[in-house]
Amino acid sequence: MRSPADFDEETGRRSDFAKDLYQHKNHLFRSWFLELLMLCLLIIVLFVAFSDSDLSWFEKLYHHSQYHSLFNHSHQFGSPAYRVTPTHKNMLNTIHKSIESPALQSGGLQYHQAYPHNYQFVMDNTEVCKNNAPFLVLIVPVAPINIAAREAIRQTWGKDRLVQGEVVITLFMLGLHEGADVEKLKQENEQHHDLIQSNFMDTYLNLTIKTMVIMDWLATRCPTAAYAMKVDSDMFLNIDNLVLMLQKPGIPKLNYLTGMLMWDIPVIRSKSSKWYVPEEMYPDPKYPTYTLGMGYVFSNDLPAKFVEVSKSIKPFNIEDAYIGMCMKKLGLSLTPPPNPSQFKTYNSKYDRCEFSTIITYILGSSENLIKYWSDYKKPGPHC
Ligand SMILES: *[C@@H]1O[C@H](CO)[C@@H](O)[C@H](O)[C@H]1NC(C)=O
Ligand SMILES: *[C@@H]1O[C@H](CO)[C@@H](O)[C@H](O)[C@H]1NC(C)=O
Repeated sequence: MRSPADFDEETGRRSDFAKDLYQHKNHLFRSWFLELLMLCLLIIVLFVAFSDSDLSWFEKLYHHSQYHSLFNHSHQFGSPAYRVTPTHKNMLNTIHKSIESPALQSGGLQYHQAYPHNYQFVMDNTEVCKNNAPFLVLIVPVAPINIAAREAIRQTWGKDRLVQGEVVITLFMLGLHEGADVEKLKQENEQHHDLIQSNFMDTYLNLTIKTMVIMDWLATRCPTAAYAMKVDSDMFLNIDNLVLMLQKPGIPKLNYLTGMLMWDIPVIRSKSSKWYVPEEMYPDPKYPTYTLGMGYVFSNDLPAKFVEVSKSIKPFNIEDAYIGMCMKKLGLSLTPPPNPSQFKTYNSKYDRCEFSTIITYILGSSENLIKYWSDYKKPGPHC
């Protein structure tokens, strides 16, 4: 056998030529191979990033573009009372398990976790709708311990019983909370007659239950109301503009759901996100059209329909999208408000003139609500 070295020595230039050719080919092959390798690596990285649920960079990008820059609000995802704690994942696991557990399903088709008849009212103020059929009922989901938010609302947009000649009532929906003083809540209710409490655990991940219990209360305790609104506790609500909107001719009296409409919103699959929804809970990559949870308005025939249809909808923890799912399942479509720009989200600066034209704004704090409202209510022109 001849080694390449022997060959080189014997054949002189020809061997040099062969050697050059060999090296050139070798070089070409190596760079080609490297490029291929890089390409493969890139493909693998992209594949892993997009297929795995831990898309931290993708998620960040997504959040910033989809939510933070657009709304940057904590609403759908964590009003101040529901900061996400390290137990978040455990709680999700619990939900997970309970969904998979046959105990919560009957006949494999029914999902009872969000079905409100599973829960009982601790306080339900049945008399509030009896004497005077309201035109509009505002229901505010709030944590039992968040007395400050309730007080601020009672002093501001929840204060008046008569708005633009219509009866409007404001109520608060609470669940159970370990830190809440039961006696104090009872006293608060005796004073204001505006607390509704149900016996589910009041947690961020149970907000869908809270919404469905609101629907149950409206359907069973207040069926005479014409319209209702689910409105978050850290909102500025221009109640006059809302009533004026609902008084407009042409506003449907039935099957009406309006607010800030959200189309084609993708479901977040990153486990580290507050808004994470596992595929087992909600398999589609996108949500049906829904109204943003900060404040949505509906005709009061819908709550009974939502309650009924919720038996056949698998629960997931994004309450506003869940209502969108109920609408879809009912074969109903959402209605944009007469003036969509009246439903506003994040507010960074108070403007007396602008606040006189809108219906909602997210404030994020009760102090701001009191401050802005007292200025807004001062006599004199707004603009
Ligand atoms: C968005 O919200 C975060 C806190 O949730 C805050 O730090 C940030 O300043 C907000 N950005 C804007 C543009 O409002
Ligand atoms: C939701 O509420 C139910 C009923 O009170 C409770 O069993 C469950 O632990 C709660 N889930 C979470 C995630 O808080």
